[in-house]
Amino acid sequence: MCNQTHLRSMALDSSGKQSEQQQQQPPRDSSGNGEERLKLRRTPKEEHEPENYEDLPLDFSPSLFSSLERYLPEQLLNSTRIDKASFMKDLLLRYTPDPERVRIMRHNEYRANILSSYQRLHGEIYSLDPTSFFVPSFLRAFTQKSEQSFRNMMVETSPGIFTFEMFKPQFCEMLLAEVEHMEKWVYDSRSTIMRPNTMNKFGVVLDDFGFDSMLQQLVEDFLSPISQALYPEFCGSSLDSHHGYIVEYGKDRDVELGFHVDDSELSLNVCLGKQFSGGELFFRGVRCDTHVNSGSSEKEVYDYSHVPGHAILHRGRHRHGARATTSGHRVNLIVWCRSSTFREMKNYQKDFSSWCGGCKLEKQKRQRDSINETKEMLARRAAEKTLVELASKSCAD
Ligand SMILES: [Fe+2]
Ligand SMILES: [Zn+2]
Repeated sequence: MCNQTHLRSMALDSSGKQSEQQQQQPPRDSSGNGEERLKLRRTPKEEHEPENYEDLPLDFSPSLFSSLERYLPEQLLNSTRIDKASFMKDLLLRYTPDPERVRIMRHNEYRANILSSYQRLHGEIYSLDPTSFFVPSFLRAFTQKSEQSFRNMMVETSPGIFTFEMFKPQFCEMLLAEVEHMEKWVYDSRSTIMRPNTMNKFGVVLDDFGFDSMLQQLVEDFLSPISQALYPEFCGSSLDSHHGYIVEYGKDRDVELGFHVDDSELSLNVCLGKQFSGGELFFRGVRCDTHVNSGSSEKEVYDYSHVPGHAILHRGRHRHGARATTSGHRVNLIVWCRSSTFREMKNYQKDFSSWCGGCKLEKQKRQRDSINETKEMLARRAAEKTLVELASKSCAD
């Protein structure tokens, strides 16, 4: 068993300076313009067919909008989808707890500021174009979308860890150039940007620079079917949000990354380039919150060396870290895929033995103990029976 200490939980970095400069928001119960607000219906209009909001940049789950639509007042039900979405978004923001609401509004303003002044270098990579982004082997697997077709183009290098060729070199080059362009803009405009998470001090959040809908489509059309086929007992097809970012390692960048778990259900990590040595990922087994600091077995020890254009897919709870990039410059695209359903369900469960190595060990121990108890009980009964038989025999004699 190897011991791990100080395992960290990698989360979003919301410490950007921008947030300190924001103005105070209007009080929650004010519409701000003196107009009387429209009220929701008390009961849903069941016969109304709600719209699909999947493609809109919203701060809440699109399915929440579809469900809420049946409660809209009559005068709004037949208005445009955009008007309905905007009404519902305002409403949801008003009922979101204050700190969360303020955070969402500040983040929206932060993104709007970037989008209004950042000039894209390669506009074409902001919309998903499967044939120009992906290698043929990756695309072929999606004609069937079966467990077998996905396994055919991947290698399960360690239980629950899949590696595969994903992006064409030309796409990697364009994304690398776009990232350099973003960093130059940050430097030239003296902007303070939020870094990807609490552990990476370099790199950019792609969603903040306009890649949000492209990456959401990547999750829905490509990663979700893979998740459904390969992680059915974990989050399956319930992925409903993501956090997409770039990390950079090497001289004058981050060097290594400590041992941690991601704030995601599934993590996709794709090496974009360039020339580098070192930077291997090391994995040490999947764990739930309770067992996150427990030891790992030899079977769980796995190291992976990055290959440009190749992806590695793993559960966010699969404990890992990155060794030092000893020379050159390594740039990786990371997409954290999340499932609100999985997170909600997790609150009501205690046994995660289908994926947590710690829970599995405890379950096996419980099963062994119970078998031993039954064996002991049977042995006791047999002994008692023999004694009774002997006693009755000796009486008869
Ligand atoms: Fe990570
Ligand atoms: Zn566990």
